[in-house]
Amino acid sequence: MEEPRDSTQMVKIEQAARILQAGDVVAMPTETVYGLAGDASRDDAVVKIFETKSRPRFNPLIVHCATIEMVETIAMFPPLARKLADKYWPGPLTMVLPKHVGAPLSDLVTAGLDTVAVRMPKHDMARTLIEKAGFPVAAPSANPSGKLSPTTAQHVLDGFDGRVPVLEGGPSVEGVESTIVAVQDDQLILLRPGTISRDDLAAATGRPVLDPEDKTIKAPGMLLSHYAPNATVRLNADECLDGEAALNFGNSKLRSKVATLNLSPSGDLAEAARHLFSCLRELDRPDIRTIAVAPISTAGLGEAINDRLRRAAADRS
Ligand code: TXA
Ligand code: MG
Repeated sequence: MEEPRDSTQMVKIEQAARILQAGDVVAMPTETVYGLAGDASRDDAVVKIFETKSRPRFNPLIVHCATIEMVETIAMFPPLARKLADKYWPGPLTMVLPKHVGAPLSDLVTAGLDTVAVRMPKHDMARTLIEKAGFPVAAPSANPSGKLSPTTAQHVLDGFDGRVPVLEGGPSVEGVESTIVAVQDDQLILLRPGTISRDDLAAATGRPVLDPEDKTIKAPGMLLSHYAPNATVRLNADECLDGEAALNFGNSKLRSKVATLNLSPSGDLAEAARHLFSCLRELDRPDIRTIAVAPISTAGLGEAINDRLRRAAADRS
């Protein structure tokens, strides 16, 4: 007999694979953030992902694969993409590639586009889960749409009030979502900055990395207000106003009477990325209306950190 499982319970890999095979959703750990996983080929599973997150249907999902062979069942894989895969897969890089006609994908996954976003996660438990399930897995971040992304299993339980089973895989080591790059013929377009930086992509390929405005490409999910705590966020603060919480970086010295955290006292951008969402969560208390954030370098993966902070601070009206 199956052991009883209520949805607040953590699940093991075999159980998680069976949940996916039954067309249900389960949260899985990845090195970037936890993902809300479902069978990418099944409309019913993908509908559950959108409904659980209250995510608008025009915003397509990333499809996670365990192997290159699995990727080749759904997308074309031009030489430029192969070069990036050799260097960065498995890892925090998502590539938007031309979708195969007749790929075993629900149209809801790609929101009707003729491209598909694909990634091969580095987290061993994620790849093992996908392999055991036996099919590509759609997985947006496992948080209600627009809110802070989850970097621990507890964040997922909190975000969905324990309604989603979670495969516990420890805290995410990267802490911000994957870099998304569209590969169009011999061009690269950076759709979302991440810990693999613009310079990394250029160095690996010898190609310039363009911005979406330079091309007619659509990045439908890149809504300005996103990754938002309940508190408002004030960027590039050089002092803390009355009642504000403080989020420092390196040797910045914002001082708050309510709460003060530092993303990385040593000024290490990788550490700051890893701690970004959990620090914002910790400061997102009912008694705190505004979080003042010190300036953070925009070099390298600082671009990704500043991107997330800009969206957290964006006007929500
Ligand atoms: O690190 C990550 O990428 C995490 C983990 C779970 O893998 N996933 C993640 O998924 O961040 P999500 O759904 O929160 O972000 C997916 C982004 C959205 O901005 C979406 O618009 C974009 O990928 N996207 C998906 N398919 C696309 C496509 N065909 N063309 C352009 N953008 C696409
Ligand atoms: Mg997300």
